[in-house]
Amino acid sequence: MKFPLIIANWKLNGNKYFVNVFLKKLCYKLNKKKLYNIAIAPPLVYLHTSIKEIKNTNITICAQNVDVNLSGAFTGDVSISMLKDIGVKYVLIGHSERRIYHNETDFEILKKFINVKKNNLIPILCIGETLEEKKKNKTKEICFNQINLIIKNLGIKVFKNCVIAYEPVWAIGNKVSANFKDVQKIHKFIRSTISLYDKKISKQIIIQYGGSVNYKNAKELLMQQDIDGLLIGNSSLNINNFLKIIKILKN
Ligand code: 13P
Repeated sequence: MKFPLIIANWKLNGNKYFVNVFLKKLCYKLNKKKLYNIAIAPPLVYLHTSIKEIKNTNITICAQNVDVNLSGAFTGDVSISMLKDIGVKYVLIGHSERRIYHNETDFEILKKFINVKKNNLIPILCIGETLEEKKKNKTKEICFNQINLIIKNLGIKVFKNCVIAYEPVWAIGNKVSANFKDVQKIHKFIRSTISLYDKKISKQIIIQYGGSVNYKNAKELLMQQDIDGLLIGNSSLNINNFLKIIKILKN
């Protein structure tokens, strides 16, 4: 059975106290619950301390980013082998905030994806259309192109043990998330795109949704056949709100 993959993406938020209090409470609350698939994506400087906090639990850690380079004179960057070294499991790749604010290119996204796979970590490929693209009815085309960048360069097999996160840019950091029926349609499209190349991988692949998820809309989203998990920003910054979302998994 596939358990929904729930990831808290803290983005550029938090401090030592927040990390400590949040993770202590999360570990305590999840103590009796063995079957879950939950990861935390803290800011880079808190990865190590987060890993220590979640020791002896099934919670895992996700990096919000990785550099394209593997080592050398790249001041301020962090490599995939460093993330692996400290025990990171997932790496977000191509998040819209990196595409927008850091001008991350397709080439860099591809290179990062390769490095993550080569190091046996799990890439979470973030895809999704902008509001302009949505208005032009280009959602499927954009998602297809973002997935196809990987398939045409690396082949479909790289999607084995990989996550795709559909995050429509216009739905991120909003009061309202995308409608669950629309999200389901896009997720179905993503799965059927993968299935054109490999049926088995299309069934295995985790397709998460992200964009203004909260404890009120999480249940409907998770009930959809092709929504295998949630990538949560804002609502993962409050432990009680995050626990309310986790609680849905029990029902
Ligand atoms: P919000 O949940 O704040 O909309 O963020 C979504 C997101 O970008 C997760 O990666």
